[in-house]
Amino acid sequence: MSNTIAVVFGTRPEAIKMAPVVKELERRGVGHSVIVTAQHRGMLDQMLEVFAIKPAHDLNVMLHNQDLFHVTTAVLNQIKPILAAERPGALLVQGDTTTTFAASLAAFYLKIPVGHVEAGLRTWNKYDPFPEEINRQLTTRLTDLHFTPTEWGKRNLLAEGVNPSAIFTTGNTVIDALLMTVDPAYVFADPILKSIDFQKRKVILLTSHRRENFGEPMREIFRACRELVESHPDVELVYPVHPNPNVQSSAKEILAGVPRVHLIEPMDYRPFVQLMNKSTLILTDSGGVQEEAPSLGKPVLVLRNTTERPEAIEAGTGILVGTDRVRIVKEATRLLTDSAAYADMSTRINPYGDGKAAGRIVDVLLKHIS
Ligand code: UD1
Ligand code: UDP
Repeated sequence: MSNTIAVVFGTRPEAIKMAPVVKELERRGVGHSVIVTAQHRGMLDQMLEVFAIKPAHDLNVMLHNQDLFHVTTAVLNQIKPILAAERPGALLVQGDTTTTFAASLAAFYLKIPVGHVEAGLRTWNKYDPFPEEINRQLTTRLTDLHFTPTEWGKRNLLAEGVNPSAIFTTGNTVIDALLMTVDPAYVFADPILKSIDFQKRKVILLTSHRRENFGEPMREIFRACRELVESHPDVELVYPVHPNPNVQSSAKEILAGVPRVHLIEPMDYRPFVQLMNKSTLILTDSGGVQEEAPSLGKPVLVLRNTTERPEAIEAGTGILVGTDRVRIVKEATRLLTDSAAYADMSTRINPYGDGKAAGRIVDVLLKHIS
């Protein structure tokens, strides 16, 4: 077993949330090796470029419209020889994707300790979010060092019998990434974004991609968005559409060609952060976006029926509206037209951290891996 640290990730959000840890390992000169599964190809490459990360290994597993069996088995089989040859002192995984779970399982089979960044999130609903809830529960079972963003996550892990001395409350690294990236002087290169007058218009930013929302729930979200734009002439909606074919087809069916609706490609993280910062209101089913938006003072309507992030709802920075068209339209209309309600939500404190999570994680790793 060597004293280097292997870091694995495969999707856009894992890359964003792991980047601050990789940068901290680089800054302190800690021996490490980055393995990407490329469960996402284009969206991962965007993030590797933004954060200037050069992977030592690239498993290149993505297939068009892949299923969970493919991702699980490809990651498990392809990471095996790398971990077996390098035998790192620990493998660091992040979050709840299939990359996270399959890589943790591979490390366990090889008796390599696992460190889990963003541990302890739970809905306790097997199929919501699917398959993330089970990915993170199984990853917890395989993990030796649990890095949880908040006290709530710590309590969840303790209730499941995790050894208290193996749990470290660090804040969420997504805030580190955000603070590294936000730039009020940024000017959009994209002609569509450049053409929007953010002073005069109210801009709704939409992101939606969750598997459990595919089909009718996602279509209801999109119908609500269309209704909002059609009934408010001063509103523009920007939706960087996730490349998942199930998302693309519903988005095109309901939102393509609607005036003041801009369907664009997934954005690089840097312009996306500035777009969040210039928007009036954010509608999302994304985990990361709900965590970031409060740091920019942006109210979030969470397009999901369950949440593993109740801190945001309790802090009042987000409202869990589900996928019901009428409810989405009602809550969004209130925030677009009631300035007191808007001001109240946009001035709450972000519960997800202070931007120093990566340093705390590396401190713990250095103490435990030597
Ligand atoms: C995955 C994660 C989800 C995470 C989301 C973040 C799993 C099972 N799902 O969902 O937890 O919230 O990423 O975005 O781990 N595609 C491309 N280019 C890309 C990325 C995806 O074309 O850069 C298309 C491909 O056709 C691919 C499909 O999207 O097969 C689905 O990708 P996949 O990673 O399986 O699922 P996501 O819905 O992206
Ligand atoms: N994001 C981005 N470009 C986009 C949309 C999102 O860079 O066009 C970032 C966003 O700031 C957040 C992360 O991607 O940090 C969220 O990823 P996603 O919604 O795909 O996954 P989730 O967080 O739901 O797992």
